[in-house]
Amino acid sequence: MEFRSSHWYSGDDRNSYIHRAWMRRGLPREAFEGGKPHIAIANTASDLTPCNAHLNEVARSVMDGVWAAGGVPLNLPVVSLGETNVRPTAMLWRNLAAMATEEMLRANPIDGVVLLGGCDKTIPSLLMAAASVDLPALVVPGGPMLTGHFRGAPLGCGTDVWRLSEEVRAGTLSREAFLESESSMIRSRGHCNTMGTASTMACVAEALGMTLPGTAGTPAADSRLLERSHESGRLAVELVKAGRRPSHVMTRASFLNAVVTLAAVGGSTNAVVHLLAIAGRLGVELTLDDFDRTGSGVPLLVDLQPAGRHLMDDLFRAGGLAAVLKEVEDLLDPSAITVTGRPLAEHLAGAEILDEDVIRRRAAPLLPDAGIAVLRGNLAPDGAVIKPAAASPELLRHRGRAVVFDSVEDLHARLDSPDLDVDETSVLVLRGCGPRGYPGMPEVGNLPLPARLLEKGVRDMVRISDARMSGTAYGTVVLHAAPEAAAGGPLARVRTGDPIVLDVAARRLDVDVPEAELAVREPVTAGHARPARGWERLYVEHVTQADRGADLDFLIGSSGDRVGRESH
Ligand code: FES
Ligand code: MG
Repeated sequence: MEFRSSHWYSGDDRNSYIHRAWMRRGLPREAFEGGKPHIAIANTASDLTPCNAHLNEVARSVMDGVWAAGGVPLNLPVVSLGETNVRPTAMLWRNLAAMATEEMLRANPIDGVVLLGGCDKTIPSLLMAAASVDLPALVVPGGPMLTGHFRGAPLGCGTDVWRLSEEVRAGTLSREAFLESESSMIRSRGHCNTMGTASTMACVAEALGMTLPGTAGTPAADSRLLERSHESGRLAVELVKAGRRPSHVMTRASFLNAVVTLAAVGGSTNAVVHLLAIAGRLGVELTLDDFDRTGSGVPLLVDLQPAGRHLMDDLFRAGGLAAVLKEVEDLLDPSAITVTGRPLAEHLAGAEILDEDVIRRRAAPLLPDAGIAVLRGNLAPDGAVIKPAAASPELLRHRGRAVVFDSVEDLHARLDSPDLDVDETSVLVLRGCGPRGYPGMPEVGNLPLPARLLEKGVRDMVRISDARMSGTAYGTVVLHAAPEAAAGGPLARVRTGDPIVLDVAARRLDVDVPEAELAVREPVTAGHARPARGWERLYVEHVTQADRGADLDFLIGSSGDRVGRESH
C-alpha cells in the first residue's frame, strides 16, 4: 500500500532527494522505500510541564514498538501546557496548542501519530489536533503519580491543596505544617493523582476508543505503562495499515460512552468543555444537553477525590477503568469501536472489581445519579454546569442574596473585609472570568469562602461564575455560565443583594429580579480583557462560549491531512 509519507520520499527527482537526504541521519535506506509507515510521536514532554516531564521515556518505548511493527518512529515535540505554571491560565493556550499541533501533523511526512499527553490541557489539545487532521492516531496517557503521604494520611494533588489552604485560613492548621506538606505531595513522576482533569481526560480518551484499551490510569511510575507504550507503538503501525482514522473511532456513540464514563468516575467539569471542542472538530453533533440526558441516572462508582476518598493508584489496583466500565456496560453504546477496530465493550470481558471500597458495585453506588447537571434560567440562557457529586446535597436547592465580584482581583481585595455583608446563606457570584473576559476561562470558579465564615465552620456555599474550576476542586459550584458577562450575558447585570435561586433538580438557575428591571440595568464590564495584539487578541475575537467548547470559531471542523503544495 502507498503511504502518505511516500508523497515526500518516493521518486528520483530533486525534491524527493531533498526530503530523503536530510532525514537519513542513520536511518536505513528501506525507511524511505515506501513499505514502512512513518509514525510521529506528538510529545508534550517539557520540564515546565512537570506532569509530562517523563514522556521522553514513554516516547522511547513507543518508538521501540513502532520499529518492532515495521514502522519508522519520529519524535515530534509539540506545544506543552503545564497547568500549574502557565499564566494567565493554561486554557488560554489550549486552542493554540491544538492549532500548532494540527498544522505540524499536516505539514510533515507522517502517516500516523501517537499522542503523548498527561497534564490537563495536553490530551484535549492533542485530540482536537488529531481530529482536525484525521490521520490515524491514538493516545498514550502519561499516567498519574503515586500517592504521597503527609503525617500518615494520603495527599490528593490539588484537592488537598484547596482543603489545607482553607484550614490555614480557618485557623485549624499552622502555616508551618501547611508548607511542610508541600514536599510530600508530588511523590513521583506523573500527573495529578486525583480524579482531576488529567485523570478524567485519560479515562475519557479511553472511553472514546482513542487509547489501547487498559492503558488509562496506569501510574506513570509503573513499568506496565512502558509495556503499554510499546504496544501502542505497534498498534499505531496497524492503525495506518488499516486506514483507521479518528473520525472512524470518535463517533457520536463513542462521545456518549465518554459522557457515561465521566459520570461513573466522577470526572472533572472541564471534560465537558473539552469533549464539546473535540466533537466540534469532527462534526459530531454533541451538545451540553447530551451530558445531562446521557449522564443522568449514571451512578458514581469510583470513590476518588475530589468526589470521594481514594486516589488514582487505588483505582488502578482495584481493577482500573475497565472494571468501572464493565459495571455500567449496559449504558455503553456497543457500536462504538476503539483504535483496535473492536468495540469498547469487547475489551471489558476480563475486567473485575478487586476492591469494592474503591470501585463500587452498581447496586451500592456512592451516588445514584452522578451526571453533570446542566442548568438554565435567566442567569445562564445558554447553560451552566454543576457537578452534583462534588456538591453539598443540602445546597442543591437554595435561595440566597448575591454577593457579586467583578473580577478575581475584586474578589481577593474584598473577600475577607469585615465590611463585606455576607453570611453562609449568601450566593457568591464572580463574573468577567469567561473565555473572553479573563481571557481564557481560568479555574477560579471555586471561589474561596470568606475567612470569617470558615472560622465559624462553614465549608461550602453556593458559588456561581462564568469561569471553570479545577477538576480537583469541590463544592456547590455553578460554572461555565453562558453567555459570559463579557459576551453580554446576564451575569453582567446582577447586583449584590439580588435574590438568586438555584434548583438543581429542576435544572434552574435564576436571579429573582423582574426581566424589565434587568434589561434597563447597565452591564458591568469593568476589568474585561481587551488585548491589543497577538494570540490573546485573536483568541478574544474568535473564541466561542463554553457551551460550544470554547474553541476558536475558525478552528471548528477538519481540514484533513492533505497539503496542496510542495515546499521547494
Ligand atoms: Fe498537571 Fe494536575 S497540574 S495534572
Ligand atoms: Mg486544571
